[in-house]
Amino acid sequence: MSVDNKSGNLVHKKIDFAHILEKVRVFAPATVANMICGFDVLGFAVDEPGDEVLMYRVAEPGVRIRAIKGDAGRLPLDPQKNTVSACVQMLLTDLGIENELGIEIELIKHMPIGSGLGSSSASTVAGLFAINSLLGNPLSKEELMPYCVEGERLACGHGHADNVAPALLGGITLIRGYAPLDMVRLPVPEELYAGIVFPQVDVPTRDARQLIKEKVALKDAVTQWGNIAGLVAGLFQNDYDLISRSMHDVIIEPTRAILIPEFYAMKQIALDNGALSFGISGSGPSVVAITRGQEVAQVVTEKIQQHLSANDIDSFKYVSSVNIDGPKVLPFNA
Ligand code: HSE
Repeated sequence: MSVDNKSGNLVHKKIDFAHILEKVRVFAPATVANMICGFDVLGFAVDEPGDEVLMYRVAEPGVRIRAIKGDAGRLPLDPQKNTVSACVQMLLTDLGIENELGIEIELIKHMPIGSGLGSSSASTVAGLFAINSLLGNPLSKEELMPYCVEGERLACGHGHADNVAPALLGGITLIRGYAPLDMVRLPVPEELYAGIVFPQVDVPTRDARQLIKEKVALKDAVTQWGNIAGLVAGLFQNDYDLISRSMHDVIIEPTRAILIPEFYAMKQIALDNGALSFGISGSGPSVVAITRGQEVAQVVTEKIQQHLSANDIDSFKYVSSVNIDGPKVLPFNA
């Protein structure tokens, strides 16, 4: 699916004010960007963790943040600085209804900020999916995508789509190109699992991107594009050996691994205990073991956590299959 990168030009969308909902509650999933070998072009969504947005229609026009929970006070409540409200505002402006509608947002973070799990993307996608649901779904997911990418730009200074695309579309996504945004949903082998460990150190995406070298040696580029193509072929063929052989990153991992304590020890543990592959989730510090089946992912994450605790590093772990559905509307009082 190819998408016009520019937001705007949505005034032709008719919003039926009589049928706008009073409130909506939305969950959007965390994501593993890069999928180890595909920097900025591959990513997948997981079942947990994820963020929630509770959105209310109110009488006074404008977009406001009512509360943010689970962020330890780190995210701005100023609606122009908060990426969720800023993106919702942008969408209402493009629809030409910003002076007619009042929106209040409660954001519930269920995952750490700066974790490499697409924390800001999950919040932005939840917010945009929520406003679209509240308005009666006037926009398709493709039309929401430029606003999601803009949210990523606001959050970390760069509009990569490998978190927001899988968070919004679900499944495994390939960003074939950025100008225009061209996204492809890839097949998801049924037994593919992710064992994620988040060592509790902070690695902001902005900083982790600045470390990366601008130039790549041709031999590394050849290895990497062979791996990306091999991974895509492996997904289509349901070939776990090919997936395993392909999920290696010779370009980004060697640079970023230095930001993650015990990275190579964790990698050894994962591979010794049957993981198909192991690498950095997004810009880190979360790491991900890709496994065939849930049990291996459980064992690998437990052993990695034991290793981290022995080195006085606290961590969280998540074991998940690939989330096919992306964001979902939840019952309000659940
Ligand atoms: N592709 C991005 C990066 C993802 O690696 O910087 C950030 O979560």
